[in-house]
Amino acid sequence: MTSLQETPSVGEPVGALTVVSLPHPQGCRTYLLVDPTSRQAMAVDVHLDFVEDVVALVAKHEWSLPYVVDTHTHADHPSGSADLGKRMSSTRIAHEKSQHEGVRRHPADGDVLHLGDVVVTVMHAPGHTLDHMVLRTDAAVFAGDTLLIGGVARTDFLGGDAGQLFDSLRRVFDGLPDDTIVYPGHDYAGRSTTTIGVERRTNPWLQMKDRAYFVAQLTANQPPRPANMDDLLRLNREGVDIPASISAAEAAKLVAAGAGGSVIDVRTRIEFDGEHVEGSRLITLDQLTDRADEVRATPAPRLLLCRSGSRAEMGRQVLSRMNIKGLTVVTGGIEAFRAAGGVTQQGKAVMSLERQVRVAAGGLVVLGVVLGFLLHPALFVLSAFVGTGLVFAGVTNWCGMGLLIAKAPWNRSRSANSGSASACAAAPPSCSAAPPASCSAGAPAAKK
Ligand SMILES: [Fe+2]
Repeated sequence: MTSLQETPSVGEPVGALTVVSLPHPQGCRTYLLVDPTSRQAMAVDVHLDFVEDVVALVAKHEWSLPYVVDTHTHADHPSGSADLGKRMSSTRIAHEKSQHEGVRRHPADGDVLHLGDVVVTVMHAPGHTLDHMVLRTDAAVFAGDTLLIGGVARTDFLGGDAGQLFDSLRRVFDGLPDDTIVYPGHDYAGRSTTTIGVERRTNPWLQMKDRAYFVAQLTANQPPRPANMDDLLRLNREGVDIPASISAAEAAKLVAAGAGGSVIDVRTRIEFDGEHVEGSRLITLDQLTDRADEVRATPAPRLLLCRSGSRAEMGRQVLSRMNIKGLTVVTGGIEAFRAAGGVTQQGKAVMSLERQVRVAAGGLVVLGVVLGFLLHPALFVLSAFVGTGLVFAGVTNWCGMGLLIAKAPWNRSRSANSGSASACAAAPPSCSAAPPASCSAGAPAAKK
């Protein structure tokens, strides 16, 4: 994911506004609408991971941010609106049915928001959720999760209704010119925009004229609910941040409810192979920086796990410095998780890393003593060095020898890059199809 501070352009001109589009590895998109004359901006559907970037971008270009808008209650990712609104003293905007705490303005259908002299019209568009709004400008429409590129949103939670979505699609989009640009709330194939004309010609959902048939198609074969949905809804509605740590018992409860794909295991490959949480993703502590986009693609709250909790906390600090939020450390690690009743998968019987360190350290101490007596007394320093290292490891809980041994070929035998036990939960942004627990509906079975 490109950091905004590194983004060379300040967005693209779209009618009277400039639009900055921020794609997230989870497939959702954050937008900034800017009036270049008044320098007023509006943030739309801000992902929690983008809060720092938006703050930096607004400051860098000397914009103001009077509005922060959620087009609807997000069930698949943490919203950054509460945090951003507070930081920038912006007016938070959402539909009255959203039940978000801290929202200061609930626009009705047809209300307008002003960025300088430029008008943004709010349209109530229930269907995906009851509280869904679409934003329309002179040249574009910010569709949230109604019309997606080649698809539409699912309608099976948060007051969603397939019939209402059919009506909203007609009411909001039917009268728009073909060249109107559509900015979707999600795209899982890395595409950024489409136009009304293209969607009219190619989107099977827009071509359906029979409401009952549309409803039947959309409600058949519903995809699984987004991971951690209940937790995300609570966090998004209450606007609170995800805690820095949770108890192992809470983690066990979350995993039992289906959040295994949100567990990021920062231990070594050999430890992971010996025992891990089903569905968890292995990203070793030393790989977190290089694989940060995989962390971003993991559904939040992201549960960081190690053996006892200390490496996970180190990992949280590393990732926090990269502006990644929604991280929570499982207190006590996998040992406490198991003790709290959490289900783990046992792997092949291998010598644990801890035992390997003990064997290696003991062997080096003995070798130093033997060589000191047989060859030269200076070689006693080897034993002293290893002993000092063990004391250091005991005091700091950081073991260089352990990290070195973890990189040995026999400890990396299965996979060079520590893949996930459930790659689907953290699909890369280039994947061609929507992840199964996404906000978009599946393709219709047939056209009519
Ligand atoms: Fe959504």
